[in-house]
Amino acid sequence: MQAILQFVLLLLIAGNETTTNLIGNAIVALLRNPDQLELVAAEPELIPNLVEETLRYDTPVQFIARRATRDVEIAGARIPANGRVVVLIGSANRDERQFDDPDDFDLTRDTKGHVNPCAGDAAASTDRTMPANLTAGTQGTWLGRCIDFRVAQ
Ligand code: HEM
Repeated sequence: MQAILQFVLLLLIAGNETTTNLIGNAIVALLRNPDQLELVAAEPELIPNLVEETLRYDTPVQFIARRATRDVEIAGARIPANGRVVVLIGSANRDERQFDDPDDFDLTRDTKGHVNPCAGDAAASTDRTMPANLTAGTQGTWLGRCIDFRVAQ
């Protein structure tokens, strides 16, 4: 019973905190890039790209930590057994070798190759419909109501 409760708690935290921040990050990115806000308001079929591009551009989990189980070499760097490694997900998602103009928030880009090492990714991808529900269509929804809203740069 305790294991079940612990797992439910894990799912609640892992699924809730990340998704909440993803929605907030998407809204801030849209408000800072009014051309992209206008684009997705005009073409709501871009909403899945909005979710993926937000995961790339401003991912809710910026880094994770690991400990090497054995000596290993990655891209010329030697990591000794038991060495601690910090994986900068946010940096990998702005890698100019992978993405053109990586610092641009661009809903038309191909986001393939962005990193989101989520163990619950199947659940997470179902969850990604949530922002779509928030924004689907433009009448009476967040997108419709806030299209003229601007934030200070
Ligand atoms: C946009 C939303 C999400 C993001 C950005 C995200 C990101 C991540 C990341 C980076 C990890 C790896 C953590 C690590 O290994 O140190 C992770 C693990 C995990 N995620 Fe997600 N996640 C999201 C949504 C969800 C959802 C909706 C669920 C479940 C309902 C979920 C369940 C999990 C679980 C169970 C783990 C494994 C935790 C562990 O190993 O202890 N995630 N997630």
